[in-house]
Amino acid sequence: MSEVNIRFARYTDLPSIARVMGRAFFDDDLFGDIIHPYRKQYPEDVNLYWLRRAYVNFWNYRWRWLVAVTKDVSTGKEDVVGVAQWERLGAGGDKLECAVYDPRRYMTQLSSVFVSLHSLMYPNRASHPQNEDILERAYPIFGTVWSGDRAESWYLEWLAVHPDHQGKGIGQKLAQWGLDRAQEEGVWASVASTRGKEPFYQKCGFIEEYWSASSGEGNPLGEWGSGRIFWRRFGKGD
Ligand SMILES: CC(C)(COP(=O)(O)OP(=O)(O)OC[C@H]1O[C@@H](n2cnc3c(N)ncnc32)[C@H](O)[C@@H]1OP(=O)(O)O)[C@@H](O)C(=O)NCCC(=O)NCCS
Repeated sequence: MSEVNIRFARYTDLPSIARVMGRAFFDDDLFGDIIHPYRKQYPEDVNLYWLRRAYVNFWNYRWRWLVAVTKDVSTGKEDVVGVAQWERLGAGGDKLECAVYDPRRYMTQLSSVFVSLHSLMYPNRASHPQNEDILERAYPIFGTVWSGDRAESWYLEWLAVHPDHQGKGIGQKLAQWGLDRAQEEGVWASVASTRGKEPFYQKCGFIEEYWSASSGEGNPLGEWGSGRIFWRRFGKGD
């Protein structure tokens, strides 16, 4: 096993990314207990949940997908052991979008249709049917926090390190990538933490706490009561 390198993800990494996400979040209270109560009977369906999300979101050009990989020195084969998905919110994100005449711009919609059909044919047996889309329903409510003064931000949508590789500094490196971008651009860096990971993000440098993913009237994540949002503000010249 060699050292861990960070690089941008490729489309062919998506199945490995889904496996890492599936393992890292398997026993999380939100992605495990609330969204996937039947995960022990159908563990592969949990990976399918992450793979379907990845097939759609990979084409969103506001997102930057990073993977941490190890490389077997004798075979040269790479193994994905960590994943980060950073999204540039605000006007800075608009600039990352493909031009209207660029066919890649329409891949998100095409992939969405494909994934919806696939979900109809092969429903996620590990999930609670009413909770599978709970994040999609909550996001428009708590997502309003990225507006006004906080609109311009690099937002860490997902971060996961395979349990066999946790505690080796990989998560921090993946988090640092977006903090560096935010610093270069003089904008916010932000993240909504899963329960218990708050000290990790504070250690990474997200020093301010404001709002949460379960805040806001009618938020379906209200009963979950976690998802504290952490911030780091960079000014021009920091
Ligand atoms: C959270 C996670 C990404 C951290 O990745 P990691 O590679 O294990 O973390 P690192 O080794 O880079 O840790 C960096 C520092 O944070 C500390 N740390 C890591 N997780 C911590 C936690 N849950 N609580 C307190 N401190 C933590 C480490 O001890 C280390 O401190 P040190 O520099 O003093 O040694 C990883 O545990 C994970 O994938 N968890 C499951 C998925 C998840 O919850 N993701 C976050 C979703 S918002």
